[in-house]
Amino acid sequence: MRYSMIATLLALLIAAPVRAEVAYGPDSVEKGKSLFLNNCTQCHGNDGKSQVDVISDATDLTEPLLYRNGTTDKDIESSIRDGRNGVMPAWGTVLAGADDIAHLRNFIKSLWPADKRPK
Ligand code: HEC
Repeated sequence: MRYSMIATLLALLIAAPVRAEVAYGPDSVEKGKSLFLNNCTQCHGNDGKSQVDVISDATDLTEPLLYRNGTTDKDIESSIRDGRNGVMPAWGTVLAGADDIAHLRNFIKSLWPADKRPK
């Protein structure tokens, strides 16, 4: 009995679809750009420099040195998904899913200086 349960669990684990990571590239950056223009410009501006809303003090997303919450893929995705410090809204329930968050992350990284941008 116990072995068959373990076997079933293993089978379920193996069958679970593994989500492919959204790679950096022009298609993803383009998708991220349109998501950004629809959702993020009010505080971060069209260019990501966040000069539009001085009161909310949103991060200038074009320079990784200015980030307050980390610049790894995980950090950026978590900033977008879960929000930050009560001032950056959480988008996890607003956006369609993990792929949209990854497209936004890729678009944001495309704004970085050429030597820091993914190749
Ligand atoms: C209501 C204003 C507002 C909107 C809309 C907004 N943000 Fe932000 N965002 C902020 C603020 C303010 C911060 C700075 C948070 C802090 O001080 O830690 C921030 C921080 C961030 C960070 C982390 C930067 C860091 O300092 O580490 C990322 C990434 C980010 N925003 C992406 C986005 C994306 C993508 C969208 C659209 C889906 C978006 N933001 C929409 C206000 C906003």
